[in-house]
Amino acid sequence: MSAVNEKKVAALEAVKYIKSGMTVGLGTGSTAFFMIEAIGEMVKNGLEIKAVATSEATKKSATNLGINVITLAEAKRLDVTIDGADEVDEDFQLIKGGGGALLREKIVAHNSDLNIIIADSSKSVSRLGKFKLPIETIPFATQLIIKELNEMGLKPVQRMNGDEDYKTDENNDIVDIDIWDTNIKLSDLEQQLKAIPGIVETGLFLTSTNLVIIGKGEQATTSK
Ligand code: 5RP
Repeated sequence: MSAVNEKKVAALEAVKYIKSGMTVGLGTGSTAFFMIEAIGEMVKNGLEIKAVATSEATKKSATNLGINVITLAEAKRLDVTIDGADEVDEDFQLIKGGGGALLREKIVAHNSDLNIIIADSSKSVSRLGKFKLPIETIPFATQLIIKELNEMGLKPVQRMNGDEDYKTDENNDIVDIDIWDTNIKLSDLEQQLKAIPGIVETGLFLTSTNLVIIGKGEQATTSK
């Protein structure tokens, strides 16, 4: 079965956790889109929820599907957030940010009671790091951060959008780094990266996930 179908299978399993009256965090990316589509359908059939979007793209898709999107400030707290991932390991540690929304995604996850990750089976890994880790940086500092990350052996590459620097919804840059060969514990690496002024956020999500739903073939497997 294709990755696309596995994404859909996982998304359809995840939306079973959504009930009327909830405030729901909506992730970003192609897997999350299937979840948004399913919620749009549920809303048409009478589900009453409020939602917080993790990106402008998600906000647009959700609004177009009739989902009531509010701000994080209005929501105050979220009951459940459903989001995708670029990699997920057996300890529910993630690499996220392939779609550039890591900053808002991490903020929304931090403010959510239940965080569900949905993914196709290719995202399930025994060790994180084949996927390059996205780092969000303040444009003022990006070039010097790249120099520092180079010195740390992390092979930084600034993400581009054609000839232009890629910009996040917060108008920041993304630098993708290679953590595969580093021996540093992930939590220490996260701390080291966050200690560099101008690094706003990293795509390492180490402790926020409560439930992982992986689509494999026709089945969705849920791990708690
Ligand atoms: C966006 C993300 C996405 O969840 C991640 O990139 C997975 O995307 P997709 O579902 O399209 O494979 O972190 O910032």
